[in-house]
Amino acid sequence: AAEKTVLKERIRRLLKERGAVLVAHYYVDGELQDLAEETGGCVSDSLEMARFGRDHPAKTLVVAGVRFMGETAKILSPEKTILMPDLDATCSLDLGCPADEFAAFCDAHPDRTVVVYANTSAAVKARADWMVTSSIGLDIVAHLHAQGKKILWAPDKHLGSYIQKKTGADMLLWQGSCIVHDEFKGIELDLLKAEHPEARVLVHPESPANVVALADVVGSTTQLINAAVSMAATTFIVATDNGILHKMRAAAPGKRFIEAPTAGNSATCKSCAHCPWMAMNGLQNLADVLEGIGNAGANEIHVDPEVGRLAVRAIDRMLDFAA
Ligand code: 13P
Ligand code: SF4
Repeated sequence: AAEKTVLKERIRRLLKERGAVLVAHYYVDGELQDLAEETGGCVSDSLEMARFGRDHPAKTLVVAGVRFMGETAKILSPEKTILMPDLDATCSLDLGCPADEFAAFCDAHPDRTVVVYANTSAAVKARADWMVTSSIGLDIVAHLHAQGKKILWAPDKHLGSYIQKKTGADMLLWQGSCIVHDEFKGIELDLLKAEHPEARVLVHPESPANVVALADVVGSTTQLINAAVSMAATTFIVATDNGILHKMRAAAPGKRFIEAPTAGNSATCKSCAHCPWMAMNGLQNLADVLEGIGNAGANEIHVDPEVGRLAVRAIDRMLDFAA
């Protein structure tokens, strides 16, 4: 504990000395989330992380999250230095959608408007007409559908089919998934609901359809936290990465949060409701990356300027729509 206190003090000092701001996701270690908030940075969902990073005047952003979040920050602010505690922190959705295969998929369906989820590489975003996050994907696809557009969607099949069902849009889906949310089990969730009939069920839309079907609220991490705060219920079953419980408990003290069931044992469960890549962000590597600012190779995110120039169009469309 003493070691952690020293590390946190070092991080606070270095952020100030280097004029850097910390932008964190709700799935990273709770201590990093708290540090981001108390030092004037932010902790939020992917949409708000993108907006906050773009609008903040700091020349250096340290993104505690996964690689696509760092890349989005860089694409929106090419003039800023974007650092991450561990550049190997990726995402199964990003890994499951290689840019060359994705380009071939798009080439085969030139009549479709290409909508990609934020959880993709810069090169995939460069090929898209729109980028969306979980908080706004439904609204954007509904808008495109109302204009008579046919959609090519990538990479998350669960989020894609949820949006497809809700909007009735014609959507051709890439077959990717999140290894964390894929582990939630509908049958077990149904049993847990029966044990806690008073509980409300909060589900991230990267979860399988039979889990989403049992939800009282489906939404992004920020939307799920807001629901936990605003709903009258005092018990919630939560189907998303359990890193979110840190903020939910702080934002809704006195309420009870139960993790939704996963496949359940470490032999079969690849992730057990916590993203292994989000978990690569820690106090030690955050402090180290801040210490290294100014030195070559300090875990800096680079995006090819031409790729960035193409990708920013898809991101800006979303941000303009959200504004
Ligand atoms: P949010 O945009 O809802 O925070 O989701 C990001 C993510 O990676 C979910 O797994
Ligand atoms: Fe990707 Fe899933 Fe991790 Fe989110 S939780 S970053 S979607 S692997």
